[in-house]
Amino acid sequence: MNKAIPYIKFNSLLFLLISLSLLGCRGMKSEKTPIHPNLNMDQQDRKEAQEINNFFDDKRSMRMPVAGTVARGLSRLDKNYYEGVEISGDWVAKIPIDLTKSIIYRGKDRYEIYCTPCHGNAGDGQGIIMTGRYGYVPAPTFHQDRLREAPDGEIYSAIYNGVRSMPSYRHQVPVEDRWAIVAYIRALQASQNAKRDDLIAAGVDVEKLENEFEAEQKMIAEARAKKEANQVEIIATVERGMEISTMYACQTCHSSDGTAIIGPSWKNLYGSEGVVTTEDGEIINVIKEDEYLIESIVNPYAKIVDGYDPLMANAYGALSQNDLQSLVEYIKSLSDN
Ligand code: HEC
Ligand code: HEC
Repeated sequence: MNKAIPYIKFNSLLFLLISLSLLGCRGMKSEKTPIHPNLNMDQQDRKEAQEINNFFDDKRSMRMPVAGTVARGLSRLDKNYYEGVEISGDWVAKIPIDLTKSIIYRGKDRYEIYCTPCHGNAGDGQGIIMTGRYGYVPAPTFHQDRLREAPDGEIYSAIYNGVRSMPSYRHQVPVEDRWAIVAYIRALQASQNAKRDDLIAAGVDVEKLENEFEAEQKMIAEARAKKEANQVEIIATVERGMEISTMYACQTCHSSDGTAIIGPSWKNLYGSEGVVTTEDGEIINVIKEDEYLIESIVNPYAKIVDGYDPLMANAYGALSQNDLQSLVEYIKSLSDN
């Protein structure tokens, strides 16, 4: 009996040691610094990003580069590649990198992350912002002659510098991805502007697609007519006009105080006379009343106001008659006469 005691003691001690060592391996984290016999340069005084540093007057630990210096690899002297412009200041005509299939797929990937919320998957400007809930300026479709003919550098610049009411994406999208996106936009443009014969040659059942498209358009038109029939005579109001104008951020481009922003001001617009260029290139005089104003909203490219570029997106065609008339009422309310 007496003899057995040390034996049991030894056994349980061994058991305790094994279980402790196993417990120590269960991925538990410790707050304590690991034992590190040879320090080398692994531990040293340094500052975290954004940490206060009392050594400098401005108390920043993140220092600005010394004036006039450029970090290695950041010289970016190649304006073609980094800014999309030639030394002469003209846009770069063609993407300055060798294109491969994988670059275009990279462009698709990046495009679908950064650009689709506004420009839509097909580049038609029908991104999620077009639900009207976000109060954002509609993005233009890429499938218009002006942007099909624009030099590659100009498309690049939209990403690098932003353009008018579109912010720059240069910090989200590094330079090689910007060119990849430009390449993908070109692919989108080609895809949406393919000739009927080319499609048939590629084995696409064009007639079937056309029938489907027509059926879809018919359904949309019917649904709209039904909706409008059910709208028991809501009267167009200035308030509703203001609401629509805010929902679609018209004010980003149209002021109500007489200043021209991207588009003409709405102040004293109603009833005024002005020069416009029609789609056929004819220069005519118009009186800006209901019919003209509604046409300008539904089909902005029909008549371009003298002195302005065709920068208003063709994106408001789905507004109801009542909403359009309300916009007119609102614009009318900004006229003194
Ligand atoms: C938050 C919405 C939004 C996002 C995201 C966005 N854009 Fe835009 N984009 C716009 C708007 C709005 C305009 C029209 C600006 C104007 O005319 O004031 C525009 C215009 C453009 C134009 C036409 C420039 C011109 O000369 O008319 C190009 C090209 C373009 N965007 C490319 C891109 C690319 C590429 C991306 C993704 C990296 C992108 N956009 C992301 C809103 C957006
Ligand atoms: C990206 C900027 C932009 C946005 C957003 C915009 N427009 Fe425009 N709009 C323009 C430009 C530029 C013109 C002049 C060129 C033209 O005739 O298309 C114009 C012209 C007009 C005209 C004709 C003005 C005239 O002097 O004859 C009307 C009316 C108009 N816009 C209404 C609207 C309404 C309503 C909205 C919002 C639902 C809107 N616009 C959103 C840029 C914009």
